[in-house]
Amino acid sequence: MPAPSTAADILILGAGAAGLMCAATAGQRGRRVVVLDHADKAGAKILISGGGRCNFTNRVCTPSNFLSENPHFCRSALDRYTPDDFIALVERHDIAWHEKTLGQLFCDGSARAIVAMLLAECAVGRVDVRLDCQITAVEHGDGFRVTTSLGAFTAPALVIATGGPAIPKMGATGFAYDVARQFGLAIIEPRPALVPLRVSAAELGLASVEGLAGVALEAIARADGAPAATPGFRENILFTHRGLSGPAILQASSYWRPGGVIRLDLSPAVPPEAFLLARKRERPRAEARTILAELLPARLAQSIGAQLPAGPIADVPDRTLTALAGQLTDWRIRVLHSEGFAKAEVTAGGIDTAGLSSKTMGARTVPGLYCIGEAVDVTGWLGGYNFQWAWSSGWCAAVALST
Ligand code: FDA
Repeated sequence: MPAPSTAADILILGAGAAGLMCAATAGQRGRRVVVLDHADKAGAKILISGGGRCNFTNRVCTPSNFLSENPHFCRSALDRYTPDDFIALVERHDIAWHEKTLGQLFCDGSARAIVAMLLAECAVGRVDVRLDCQITAVEHGDGFRVTTSLGAFTAPALVIATGGPAIPKMGATGFAYDVARQFGLAIIEPRPALVPLRVSAAELGLASVEGLAGVALEAIARADGAPAATPGFRENILFTHRGLSGPAILQASSYWRPGGVIRLDLSPAVPPEAFLLARKRERPRAEARTILAELLPARLAQSIGAQLPAGPIADVPDRTLTALAGQLTDWRIRVLHSEGFAKAEVTAGGIDTAGLSSKTMGARTVPGLYCIGEAVDVTGWLGGYNFQWAWSSGWCAAVALST
């Protein structure tokens, strides 16, 4: 005789951003919801997000801010549960927030307020959240049966909300893909995204990469091979002890593929060719490298300027300055590799949207099975988009499961 099990209307695997939103919404619509998570606290990634202040959404959220094999898949969910809907929820809970830059909304205080808000919403919906719960089997017969270290749970509906493998030391796993595969759903090859990039010293024209570590500047970064419609990302880049990071690099990294090149415009505000030629006329006795330091941080100017002859800029041929300017606006850097899932903020790829309904997140071939959040092949840019996807997809699944 099978061990006695706990019966529910909906089982949600994963008490992260998407799972908690889905649970609270369905619970408040009258469904008996159980959430199962192997971690000892709910919403662990929310707690560390946005430097502890959680960049919980972005004012302007459109499909063009996401990567997916099907770029249109996320549209319906984002239209139905919008950033304004989440802002309204945050305000109902008296959580103070502010807009930082580029539409990014952060808590004034701690990200803990967002987790507390989601758990309070779950409590209103009488959701049963089980933490420290190791899932050992997921079966499907007459409904779903999940066997765990806390006993067995059954329900006619199962929601996969266990995210992706980014930052495994936080308990992130590829479990969602195992369950999805078990039910015949296809997986788009997962890859680290919003991730620092490793670059060799030679590629930077340096004896060692450490030489530039700590240098930061505004630049435009893009990955060669990104879809034509993808803009370059104009934000800060940061040279690190191992290569490149900073928001513009993280954004471009989501589009980078192994073997590929990152292209940098190091002088987006001042066209360097006109600048260098004008300075040559105005201050012919000045050192060329000194002039370069007016465009770039000193250490970077020194390193790039090493290719210029020492001495006054008047002695540097115009064509040399023009070639240098071309390098500054289109510096092509071949990346060795990314820093991998250990350092990635998010996972690109995941459960193939071709097998899911964009309205409900339900699996087309398995009635009662739903996939939400980062587990799905929908990946946002840096800036609150990944949480908005978690809220929107979680909400849509909940509504489909409770109407
Ligand atoms: P999420 O990862 O939140 O939740 C998955 C849950 O499933 C976890 O609770 C996990 O314990 C559980 N789980 C995993 N495997 C399991 C298993 N085998 N058994 C049981 N449970 C299992 N985004 C953004 O929009 N703004 C931001 O400011 C940031 N900041 C940020 C910082 C850092 C350091 C990281 C790593 C990530 C971000 N993100 C972000 C991304 C954001 O955190 C992420 O996209 C969402 O949390 C995804 O929500 P999900 O609910 O899909 O997964």
